[in-house]
Amino acid sequence: MSYNDRFIRACRGERTDRVPVWYMRQAGRYDPEYRKIKEKYSLLDICRNPELAAEVTMMPVRKLGVDAAILYSDIMNPVMSLGVKFDIVPNVGPVVEEPIRTKRDIERLRPIDVEGDLPHILETIRILDRELDVPLITFAGAPFTIASYLIEGRPSRRYLRTKSLMYGEPELWQLLMDKLGDMVVTYARAHVAAGGKAFQLFDSWVGALSPRDFERCVLPVIRRIFDELADLDIPKIYFPGVSSGELLPSLKGIKADVIGLDWRVPIREGRRRLGGGYAVQGNLDPAVLTGPMAVIEEQAADIIDQGLEQPGFVFNLGHGLFPEASLDKIAALTEFIHRYSARQLQNGAAAKEAERA
Ligand code: CP3
Repeated sequence: MSYNDRFIRACRGERTDRVPVWYMRQAGRYDPEYRKIKEKYSLLDICRNPELAAEVTMMPVRKLGVDAAILYSDIMNPVMSLGVKFDIVPNVGPVVEEPIRTKRDIERLRPIDVEGDLPHILETIRILDRELDVPLITFAGAPFTIASYLIEGRPSRRYLRTKSLMYGEPELWQLLMDKLGDMVVTYARAHVAAGGKAFQLFDSWVGALSPRDFERCVLPVIRRIFDELADLDIPKIYFPGVSSGELLPSLKGIKADVIGLDWRVPIREGRRRLGGGYAVQGNLDPAVLTGPMAVIEEQAADIIDQGLEQPGFVFNLGHGLFPEASLDKIAALTEFIHRYSARQLQNGAAAKEAERA
């Protein structure tokens, strides 16, 4: 089979013959085969085993027919190399052994050593670079989102300790953002050297901030990360996570190629808030997948129609797939996205022909 680069071209703002699609959390518990593997191995076991991690990365590509693979890993993996001990607890998420709360804790964070501490991740990327016929997306957690786990020690709803450090000790906060920003840049560059073909920065929880706090306390490090990655010839995606619609106007000018949207902001409105210059990715509510196929298709068609109003559109969900989603429905959705978007593009091209004639 020939290499499918529709995802890369859409990220670069080009028109493709159909809309490319991949799903956040496309390797996951909705797949019985994945659940079987998880009976024997933990998430971190899989990540430490490059053959297995590569296999788990490829499973959804084969089963769903998506146009991109996303490395099987977790946003917490690189913080291991900074000296932070954590576990990924089933049905909870990341739990940090000794949460980072004092000046000393932050000063003690080491610079990342990807080759020394995370060679298994680079090996997984190298295997995938040989095996895949779609682009491999690698990723990192953004500084605010990682900081929230480091400081709270576990998933949080209010981010009180995180915000308290941000407001109360701005210099310490800046030091933490700087260190996590350095981590992201070094980690992303190592991914690309190993064969990563696109990079997504997950800022899953930054939507918890007001635009003012986002601009003052977080945006500078986001800007710096994309500035420092600007020379890499791969698409870069910033996903500002859930409830981030009010932050979109603040993103103008960051050197990302694609911005991920959650489902609360329609694609058209998201593009308007960004002011042009970015491809967009999104944004079906993952909960819609629990509804009947007719509803799923109706919502997907609306997203595609808005997406096709301008070049540069990648179909995705507004957040990760739920374990409750069914593999059959996700595969049927993928097929629908390809078929429907190809038809709309053909109709659009035919209409333009007719206009010219
Ligand atoms: O398929 C993929 O998307 C690639 C793999 C991937 C995982 N985590 C594996 C994983 C990716 C891209 C991530 C990123 C990640 N991890 C994010 C950003 C994306 C998002 O959802 O906003 C965040 C916030 C984390 C932290 C994290 N890890 C959480 C909140 C959880 C959920 C806990 C649970 O059990 O529901 C995890 C665990 C995790 N990471 C799972 C997977 C497939 C689920 C548990 C498992 O299968 O072992």
